[in-house]
Amino acid sequence: MNRTLDIQDADRIKTVQRIFNSVTPQYDLLNRLLSGRQDVYWRRRTVRHFPENSERVIDIATGTGDIALEAIKQHPEINVIGLDFVPRMLQFAAVKTKKANAEKHIGLIAGDALHIPFQNNYFDAATIAFGLRNIPDIPTALGEMQRVVRPGGKVLILEMTFPKNIGMRRFFNWYLNNIIPLLGRLISRDSGAYRYLPDSIQAFLSPGELSNLMEKVGLIEVKAIPLTFGITYLHEGVKPD
Ligand SMILES: C[S@@+](CC[C@H](N)C(=O)[O-])C[C@H]1O[C@@H](n2cnc3c(N)ncnc32)[C@H](O)[C@@H]1O
Repeated sequence: MNRTLDIQDADRIKTVQRIFNSVTPQYDLLNRLLSGRQDVYWRRRTVRHFPENSERVIDIATGTGDIALEAIKQHPEINVIGLDFVPRMLQFAAVKTKKANAEKHIGLIAGDALHIPFQNNYFDAATIAFGLRNIPDIPTALGEMQRVVRPGGKVLILEMTFPKNIGMRRFFNWYLNNIIPLLGRLISRDSGAYRYLPDSIQAFLSPGELSNLMEKVGLIEVKAIPLTFGITYLHEGVKPD
């Protein structure tokens, strides 16, 4: 399944690491502002799709840990691993975890989505929110998430996309290409970072294409659930027994 990453991929990985390292302090504020707090609702919806009685979950590309924290809010006894390859994002996640008094339940580790350092069938669910589009080898990332989830467990993915409705699509396109880079530049002072955001959404798979890939790595009962006029989708797949 693993394909060899080429020089272009290596450059892209370095760019992604540089961008997230640079925007870390403003990352949460910009998420809330740019999405009108919809991002909070999208993560809440994702956690509601955990399998019943989940005990162990891994959040890939956890960033500042918002999925992990939402998981603890909804399921105070659950244990969550948050994995990311930008240490500065994890440092912010650690501060938030401490503030929420959740250190016993959230473990944060530096690691790569393409080599998840856990055994097969270990977790009840694996999540990734707004992370997949940054990864050059999506089939391998999906395969890794599928591998570490137990039979009957779920892979849950949140990603942004262009809405189907033509009016919404035009508005979203304008917002992505004008407002997001402008606010990003003003608040994070890294115009490149918030230019990268629309480009990465534009270049990402459609919900249908992502569903097909999820099936290709062996997930079943694959669903793509539109949220907020279809600007974000919650993708769900189950690992067969
Ligand atoms: C847009 S942020 C999303 C953070 C968080 N999931 C959220 O909902 O806010 C994308 C995150 O993916 C991480 N990331 C990108 N590629 C990765 C990889 N191959 N392995 C681990 N983390 C990765 C970045 O470091 C960044 O923290």
